[in-house]
Amino acid sequence: MTITFITGANKGLGYETARRLIEKGHTVLLGARDAKAGTAAAAELGARFVPIDVTDDDSVAAAAADVEQHEGSIDVLVNNAGVHGPYGDPSGLTAAEVLSVLEVNVVGVVRTTTAFLPLLRRSADPVIINVSSSMGSLAATHDPARAESGVIAPVYTSSKAALTMLTTQYAKALPGIRVNAADPGYTATEFNGYSGPQTVTEGTDAVVGLATEGPGNGSGRFVDRDGEITWS
Ligand SMILES: NC(=O)c1ccc[n+]([C@@H]2O[C@H](COP(=O)([O-])OP(=O)(O)OC[C@H]3O[C@@H](n4cnc5c(N)ncnc54)[C@H](OP(=O)(O)O)[C@@H]3O)[C@@H](O)[C@H]2O)c1
Repeated sequence: MTITFITGANKGLGYETARRLIEKGHTVLLGARDAKAGTAAAAELGARFVPIDVTDDDSVAAAAADVEQHEGSIDVLVNNAGVHGPYGDPSGLTAAEVLSVLEVNVVGVVRTTTAFLPLLRRSADPVIINVSSSMGSLAATHDPARAESGVIAPVYTSSKAALTMLTTQYAKALPGIRVNAADPGYTATEFNGYSGPQTVTEGTDAVVGLATEGPGNGSGRFVDRDGEITWS
C-alpha cells in the first residue's frame, strides 16, 4: 500500500490529486491548514486529514509526528501548497509581500521536506514531487508563443524558478529518493479565478504520473502532462 502525503489538499489541484491517487489505491494523508476545510475534504474523499501550515515550524513538526504515530512512514510526499502573491508592476513591491510568497512556495517546501524525510526514508521507493510551474521557466517566459511570456508576476515566477532548482539540487543530494518537479499547466482553480483552460484532472496528470510510476525512473526531472520540459 502506497502512503501519500499531500500539502494544500483541501481544494484545487491538491484535492484532485488526492482523489485520483485514492482511486488508484493509495492511502492519502490530506494535509490542509484549515481544520474545517481539511476535515470536510478528507471525509468526502476517504482520506485522513492531517493539519499542516507549511509556514509554521511547529505545525509542520506536529504533522510529521502525527504521521509517525499513525502510519510510521510515507512513500510519496507531494509539496503542492502554493500562493501566487502580487501581479504586475513591481515598483511598489514590499519585502513583506515577497517573503510571504517565498515562505509558502520555497521555504515551506524545505520545511515540510526536512520534517518528512525520516518518514520517507522508511519507504522501499521514496518519492518527492514538488508542484512547480512553467511560470518559473526561463524558456517558457521568454517564448513569445507561450502564454507565460505575457504574464508579469515577479515573485511567483521567481519562487517557482527557485523551487525547480531546489528539486534538482535535492535530486543530486539524495540519490536514494526520486525527487521531481511537476508543472500542472494553466488549470481552472481558485488560484486564478478559474480562468485556466485545463480541468483539474488534466492539471494533475503530471503529479499523478510521478506519484504512480515505478522505481527506476529518473530523479531531478521537470515534467508536465506531455512529458519532460525545459526550464532553463
Ligand atoms: N492552477 C494553476 O493554473 C497552476 C499552474 C501551475 C502551478 N500551480 C501550482 O499548483 C499548486 C496548487 O495550486 P491550485 O491551483 O490548486 O491553487 P488553490 O486552489 O488556491 O490551492 C492552493 C492550496 O494551497 C494551500 N495553502 C496555501 N498556503 C498554505 C500554507 N501556508 N500551508 C498549507 N497550505 C497552504 C491552500 O490552502 P487554503 O485553502 O487554506 O488557502 C490550498 O489548499 C500551487 O503550488 C500552484 O502554484 C497551479
